Amino acid sequence: MPLPSTPLHHPLLLLLLATVACTRLPTAASKPTPPEPCASATACPALLSYTLHADLKLAELAALFAADPLAILAANAIDFAVPGPSNRILPAGLALRVPVPCACSGGIRRATSVRYVSRPGDTLTSIASRVYGGLTAPDWIRDSNGILGAAEAVDAGTALAVPLHCACFGGVDNGVPAVYLTYVVAKGDTVPAIALRYQTTATNVMSVNDLATADVAAGDIIVLPLPACASSFPTSTSDHGLAVANGTYAVTADRCVQCSCGPANLELFCVPAPLADAACSSMQCGNSSMMLGNFTLVMTGAGCSVTSCGYGGYANGTILTTLTTALKPLCPVPHQFPPLIPPPTSSFFATYLGPSPAPMPSEGGIKNNPTLAGMAPTGSQDAVAGAPPTARNFSDVIGVFALCLVANMLW
Ligand SMILES: *[C@@H]1O[C@H](CO)[C@@H](O)[C@H](O)[C@H]1NC(C)=O
Ligand SMILES: *[C@@H]1O[C@H](CO)[C@@H](O)[C@H](O)[C@H]1NC(C)=O
Ligand SMILES: *[C@@H]1O[C@H](CO)[C@@H](O)[C@H](O)[C@H]1NC(C)=O
Ligand SMILES: *[C@@H]1O[C@H](CO)[C@@H](O)[C@H](O)[C@H]1NC(C)=O
Ligand SMILES: *[C@@H]1O[C@H](CO)[C@@H](O)[C@H](O)[C@H]1NC(C)=O
Repeated sequence: MPLPSTPLHHPLLLLLLATVACTRLPTAASKPTPPEPCASATACPALLSYTLHADLKLAELAALFAADPLAILAANAIDFAVPGPSNRILPAGLALRVPVPCACSGGIRRATSVRYVSRPGDTLTSIASRVYGGLTAPDWIRDSNGILGAAEAVDAGTALAVPLHCACFGGVDNGVPAVYLTYVVAKGDTVPAIALRYQTTATNVMSVNDLATADVAAGDIIVLPLPACASSFPTSTSDHGLAVANGTYAVTADRCVQCSCGPANLELFCVPAPLADAACSSMQCGNSSMMLGNFTLVMTGAGCSVTSCGYGGYANGTILTTLTTALKPLCPVPHQFPPLIPPPTSSFFATYLGPSPAPMPSEGGIKNNPTLAGMAPTGSQDAVAGAPPTARNFSDVIGVFALCLVANMLW
């Protein structure tokens, strides 16, 4: 955005600039990427990039998306062994990846498990654009709930099904395992910039989303393929199809098992979860003393014989294990886990004035940046992404304004 040549001395001018710089375009004109057609009724794992519209307890965020609080932490490589995670307050403006089952409903992929109980003053537009950050549209909510006509207002206390945009594309992108992240374009985003941030190419983003041109506008919904580790659990397991994005974790088997992906390779690696207790079924591999994640190395004339105890899925309360032996030319280096970051603080200013701004994606929480600054928007464009989509109440206006002032002062 071109900066005005006038010095920023007038408070009103500053306010105007902050408002202009920080107002996210309404999502009314948004173009969702065409929904993915589907035939099988099986849900597949997908991620949604969501920016908190208010300070929310982790439990509230999880309820908003019918997700497991631990699963949200794990999907963002936030330490999920911390005590009492559900009561932690996450700051407004924080962008997180929310894992959802991407279902097949009416022949298209949609996350369909989400229910929202409306509050006083809610409208379909405010629910779609503010509460759910543009991941759905008023018309989708209308259709899913049989709301006729163009009515906008919703009676407080109404339970609404809120379908959210998601995609799976068979869990692959160009032949490589991938999890698809639904992303709502923020003001100032361009396809090349988004592609760079998610380590893919503009051409790939365009082809995945069926975009004829690289033009995207704020509020558009696109999907981004993230390299992932795929699983091969039998269909009889409840976590069949599990896929974990590079650099992140998943918690499965009733929170008994954690699986991670990367950073060195894209092979799913599962071990007992930190909160696993006596209620978990045995995680020992049959006929061996090895536990999930253990391996032994034996040098032979032909190379390195690697025996490992792996996870085979969760079937009916039982943790399946698989003992495999493979001959590799070289012994593998010890496994490295993706780095975990501490849970973000609820303090608005601690978050936005965090140390050492670094070039980070606005959809944060994934990079190997151990500081909280990594969670925060780090440029005025990103600050825009971090702002609530529509400032609907006074505290939001103040929040957005403060955020934008901070952004303007720093950059
Ligand atoms: C206004 O925002 C505050 C905090 O962001 C929230 O607690 C309150 O419920 C909101 N009020 C309405 C009417 O949305
Ligand atoms: C996985 O992430 C790590 C850093 O977190 C990166 O170095 C590596 O290249 C990524 N792998 C793929 C296949 O994207
Ligand atoms: C364990 O060993 C017993 C006897 O040696 C054998 O019958 C059984 O199939 C083995 N189980 C597994 C899982 O290898
Ligand atoms: C085997 O795995 C268990 C559980 O992860 C771990 O506590 C133990 O240290 C591992 N043993 C070896 C020899 O790696
Ligand atoms: C799961 O366990 C229950 C009771 O233990 C049993 O009735 C049921 O058949 C089992 N299902 C499968 C798929 O094994």
